[in-house]
Amino acid sequence: MRLDKYLADMSVGTRKELKEMIRKGRVLVDGVPVKDPGTAITGAEEVTVDGAKIAYTAFEYYMLNKPAGVISASEDSRQTTVVDLIEDRKRKDLFPVGRLDKDTVGLLMITNDGDLSHRLLSPRFHVDKVYYARIAGAVTESDVKAFADGLKIDDTLTALPAKLEILSVTAAPDPVSEIEVTIREGKFHQIKRMFAARGMEVLYLKRLSMGPLVLDPGLQEGEYRPLTEEEISALNDFL
Ligand code: URA
Repeated sequence: MRLDKYLADMSVGTRKELKEMIRKGRVLVDGVPVKDPGTAITGAEEVTVDGAKIAYTAFEYYMLNKPAGVISASEDSRQTTVVDLIEDRKRKDLFPVGRLDKDTVGLLMITNDGDLSHRLLSPRFHVDKVYYARIAGAVTESDVKAFADGLKIDDTLTALPAKLEILSVTAAPDPVSEIEVTIREGKFHQIKRMFAARGMEVLYLKRLSMGPLVLDPGLQEGEYRPLTEEEISALNDFL
């Protein structure tokens, strides 16, 4: 890999800034100033910028407990994105694996591994996503059956069969239901639209898991941690 790409990937600067830094002799490879931005780097060398060692990371994987109020995007000129929350990130090419609505909270994976992301999101793999929700209204067994049968959302969309579990329903006159729902697809506003099709509104929505990846209960909303080796292997083995 070229030296300037190595440093750009690690967010040291823009290509233009890096060219300048390299030409000024601020970048050393194995202790020797290197003046050519195109110098080939294998990854075995020690690269320093102004004396600080810059290790190379090819892939990063994070689990975020997404808070409400941030958008599922990599960058945005006005709004905070989920990638902005990953303060320890080294790579500049991170993105969220799929989208949660701005007001949805819970499990979101952030990575730069496009291949893994693609497989996790591919409709071909039918990866189970489990959500906890609070619903305005009394969810009943007839809703459970409708979800299991494959709910017609509108003229263009019939959901695949989904598992709906009723956890609790508060008393009338304004009942609120707590539910868990498992879906195998990820259409735009899918859960909100499924409940809307049953005449109910989602008040709170939290993703608990995606395939083998389960939200760490130790993460408060807005907190994140790197995935463990076991979690990365589980995702790769599963797909
Ligand atoms: N379904 C929704 O309606 N919103 C989400 O954020 C995720 C699933």
